[in-house]
Amino acid sequence: MTMPLRCLARTAAAGLVAVAALTAAGHTAEAEAADTLGSAAAGQDRYFGAAVAANHLGEADYAATLDREFTSATPENEMKWDATEPSRGSFTFAAADRVVDHAQSRGMDVRGHTLVWHSQLPSWVGTLGAADLRTAMNGHINGLMGHYKGEIHSWDVVNEAFQDGGSGARRSSPFQDRLGDGFIEEAFRTARAADPAAKLCYNDYNTDGVNAKSNAVYAMVKDFRSRGVPIDCVGFQSHFNSASPVPADYRQNLQRFADLGVDVQITELDIEGSGSAQAADYTKVVDACLAVDRCTGITVWGVTDKYSWRSGGTPLLFDGDYRKKPAYDAVLTALGGSGDPGDPGDPTVSCTAAYTRTADWSSGYNGQVTITAGDAPISSWTATVTVPSPQSVSSLWNGTPTWTGNVMTVRPSWNGTLAAGASTSFGFTVAKNGSGAAPTVGGCTAS
Ligand code: XIL
Repeated sequence: MTMPLRCLARTAAAGLVAVAALTAAGHTAEAEAADTLGSAAAGQDRYFGAAVAANHLGEADYAATLDREFTSATPENEMKWDATEPSRGSFTFAAADRVVDHAQSRGMDVRGHTLVWHSQLPSWVGTLGAADLRTAMNGHINGLMGHYKGEIHSWDVVNEAFQDGGSGARRSSPFQDRLGDGFIEEAFRTARAADPAAKLCYNDYNTDGVNAKSNAVYAMVKDFRSRGVPIDCVGFQSHFNSASPVPADYRQNLQRFADLGVDVQITELDIEGSGSAQAADYTKVVDACLAVDRCTGITVWGVTDKYSWRSGGTPLLFDGDYRKKPAYDAVLTALGGSGDPGDPGDPTVSCTAAYTRTADWSSGYNGQVTITAGDAPISSWTATVTVPSPQSVSSLWNGTPTWTGNVMTVRPSWNGTLAAGASTSFGFTVAKNGSGAAPTVGGCTAS
């Protein structure tokens, strides 16, 4: 019997995984430290994944960060219908294979995303009549799942089939419009037969808290469970920002789905923001997953802010230079891991000093310097202020000065400790002595 190509590749990859496992076993001290997201999550019996784009795998820092931190990979676009079956019946797997091969050779699991979705759908699908569309949908599921049979831990079988807003209705799509509600059930049945080893998931967004949309998904899953329609998990995309924050009832919502007898997974997590506020939101998400036994893993929707689909919102755990953000430390801590302060990926301790003149009168002025911590928390800072001759500083507050000629070096009085991204300021009054020129404020140093 001839083995299909992927099958051979998988056998080779399995060999590599075995070697990787042995190597890991030989470094138990490292494993105990749980100083990566993946190892900390493994300590909680969960995976920690990232969406991966094939075209960034050649970037050394991207691959190194992915390989070091994550235990699961979801191809970000490469398994979508437009990428895999751009014209009917001719499948293209090259880009998806690159992600899968990379992941497998590093011992990562792969999530499959996604089989039936209204978006990133090639236009030929929308031209088919009902009978033809049903055949094409099943053909697509069989084509993809057959190619990766046995290699995918969970598949998003159907993505985003419900409408936003309060109605709880199904979203209009070629599938919904021609085949009716039953297309979802049919997709799951076809998927089960195509790869019985894969967990079959329904995946959606704005279903993270209890609301009309999640109620509708809940009713569908409950119905599927009662009628034996094969569904194993529900994915919660969890794209959050200020307009769509982490819901207060996130855990309760995950739990009610889990109580239907399905696993729950956080599948596309990103949270726009920065600093300690973003970190606190990430903590809420991890805590919610850990509080629900059947929450089996978390995937963040990308490795680095610079390649995020919402890059303007800096929603991920690594910045554009692959430095760990406060959100990273928060996730690692919430997972029960602990960072090594000397880790090269840690954010550098830094600060900036910004000067403004806050008051001005004929014989003098008040200056203010705002000190802002960079991406890491700081415990102290130093800034220099040089007042041009013949000016003299007559008083200073919220800082401690030492003098060398007309250079004033200012250190904290009570306000040395700053969280990442947080600010404090000191102020001073200058006697002009005939000159209104601006002082020079030197760069900030932090420790
Ligand atoms: C996004 C990708 O991140 C982008 O690169 C692409 O341009 C559009 O799709 N819900 C999903 C994901 O299920 O597939 C989407 O991914 C984000 C929203």
